[in-house]
Amino acid sequence: MDSLDLVSPYLFKHRRRNFLVKDKMRPADLDALHHFETRPTDIFLVTYPKSGTAWMQQILVQIMDAAHLGWAEDATNRTHVPWLEERSVDNPSRERPDPRIFGSHLPPDMLPRGVKANRIKVVYVWRNPKDILVSLYHFSHVWVLLETPQSFEGFFQQFLDGDVYMGSWFDHIQDYHKAQDQLNIHFVQYESMLKDLRGEVVKLCAFLEKDLTDEAVDRVVEASTFKSMKTNPKANYKDLVETGRYKGETMRKGVAGDWKNLFTVAQNEHFDKVLKEKMSNLALTCVWEIKE
Ligand code: A3P
Repeated sequence: MDSLDLVSPYLFKHRRRNFLVKDKMRPADLDALHHFETRPTDIFLVTYPKSGTAWMQQILVQIMDAAHLGWAEDATNRTHVPWLEERSVDNPSRERPDPRIFGSHLPPDMLPRGVKANRIKVVYVWRNPKDILVSLYHFSHVWVLLETPQSFEGFFQQFLDGDVYMGSWFDHIQDYHKAQDQLNIHFVQYESMLKDLRGEVVKLCAFLEKDLTDEAVDRVVEASTFKSMKTNPKANYKDLVETGRYKGETMRKGVAGDWKNLFTVAQNEHFDKVLKEKMSNLALTCVWEIKE
């Protein structure tokens, strides 16, 4: 513990990212993941926290279940899509029949080296950062491993400074865009899924080379709506609520534009200024709101 580069009592810095003190992963464990052996059929789901990870888990599990008979046994999505940087490197849930899916928040330089070397498929979900900030703020009151924010104002600044779980959103998305030519990566925008879930599922199937019938695609879409997932304990992390690791639900609102309920006009102006400065070299089209 003494050797950890602490950002707060809850977070330590390693290779420009912030990891959880209360989690069991330590710098050496995180570095060991670079040597984790990949297989050609692996799929990596990568996100910055609160960008739609659980949503994409559900979509991927449904696609794989439709494409590979019996792939999804009767288990939760956390079992089907184990977290790469969680607990010990010999986590037994990693040893599964192919094709395997892993979840990760790691930046590209910390992923297993085989991901780049063997052009393993990477699905990267990204979301407008104002909604991520608000979602992460609420989640910080829910997940016992995160520090409960003292105030929204304080958390707002921490997010802009990158002093939150996994570090700076700006760095995360920049790093993946810079690395895109070296990776076999498919970018999916959270808000595009909100606007046209079916269209995004079809694009995803093409990237994953999974040839689904129209009916099977319909079933994937139906099982992945906010409404379906909210009542599906395999998809909504209910087990973590029941065991006390989460103090509340994570399927919160699932919309674009909730930041408007918390940001002041001044905070919004400040956010836009920082975004412009930090992202001047990357033409990203964020979708800030989708009216119902
Ligand atoms: P909100 O907190 O804004 O509601 P992650 O899984 O990366 O932690 O992201 C969590 C966010 O994704 C939460 O956002 C959650 O409600 C949203 N989400 C999860 N499933 C969704 C779905 N099927 N449709 C829309 N949003 C979803």
